[in-house]
Amino acid sequence: MPQPYTASTRVLGVNPYSPEAEVIEAAADVIKASGLVAFPTETVYGLGGSARDAEAIRRIYSAKGRPANNPLIVHISGASQLEEVAVEIPSVAHQLVDAFWPGPLTLVLRRADSIPPTISAGRDTVAVRMPAHAVALALIEAAGVPIAAPSANLFTRPSATTAEHVMTDLGGRVDLILDGGPTSIGLESTVIDLTAKTPIVLRPGGVTLEALGAMLPVIELYRPSALLTDEVTSALPSPGMLAKHYSPEAELLLFNGSFTAVTARIKQVAQEQIAAGRHVGALVVDEDRPYFADLADQIVIVSLGSKNDLPQVGRSLFAALRALDAQGVDVILAHSFEESGIGATIVDRLTRAAEGRVIDVGA
Ligand code: TXA
Ligand code: MG
Repeated sequence: MPQPYTASTRVLGVNPYSPEAEVIEAAADVIKASGLVAFPTETVYGLGGSARDAEAIRRIYSAKGRPANNPLIVHISGASQLEEVAVEIPSVAHQLVDAFWPGPLTLVLRRADSIPPTISAGRDTVAVRMPAHAVALALIEAAGVPIAAPSANLFTRPSATTAEHVMTDLGGRVDLILDGGPTSIGLESTVIDLTAKTPIVLRPGGVTLEALGAMLPVIELYRPSALLTDEVTSALPSPGMLAKHYSPEAELLLFNGSFTAVTARIKQVAQEQIAAGRHVGALVVDEDRPYFADLADQIVIVSLGSKNDLPQVGRSLFAALRALDAQGVDVILAHSFEESGIGATIVDRLTRAAEGRVIDVGA
């Protein structure tokens, strides 16, 4: 259920393809005054502030409730702006920029002195990307500065893919929300660290590992294996890797295995959970629907789309988790996906949302 918009957070509708100049001007004025603007990108909504302004950066961390050890991504509006943000840029960075920008790929590079260290939680690196969204690009240009923006959700909650999600989490904590409709990818950018000898993928995202692997040797370092404590988190190459992330309030159980085995097990566990008096949600695919027909009025069933349309599954994932939370379920039983292409990103987010509760049911 979308929350009513609060008085202290302004919301302006914006055309996602051809943003109105006066809306962008109003948003840029907020950024110039050290304020915060939530805006759409092609991945998820970002919570933006001037990347040159230590006060704006402080406000971002505070609005999200984000620990100071988890660095932010700097957004730029053109590849030529990269030199304003990073130094010692290796040639592989330029190759990736040519291939994937504007788009859902974030590069971790050495940080330029003009970027406050707090953006990077004190590290000498900086994460930077050029989003493929007319509103984001127009805002960065009108503000005249790169824009620091984490995903516009409260810390550990699923990312926001609509302006209503932003309002639910950050209403009263952000000055302005630009409502450009639902985001097209629905999953965050891929983060790749280019500061070591071999590029390391820190977070799978909108650019697939296959697409990256076709261009360069990459190391994947992202599997969320165990629950990590805060102390361990600070020492990680990318603190956003911590297992508890993108989490619904309900406990999520992720089921892995053949379609038939998973569907049968979800149904069995749903019946057990109902018997135990719990309010059950099921996160399924369209193909599952007929199997759950007899449980349809006892559990909340949300479909992510066809198992054969993974981009659609990715687009609906975070909204589905939020919808199940809004229904007040105690437990969410979720069908896993094939880990090829964008499927690897979907499985990564589901695994983190499950906080390690992954159940292998075999063939
Ligand atoms: O698609 C996206 O990337 C969205 C949109 C708004 O651009 N942004 C986003 O930001 O997802 P955030 O802050 O939620 O996630 C940024 C990720 C985190 O996992 C963080 O740890 C990692 O990038 N990161 C940022 N700076 C880093 C750095 N200097 N070194 C290593 N990892 C970094
Ligand atoms: Mg985030």
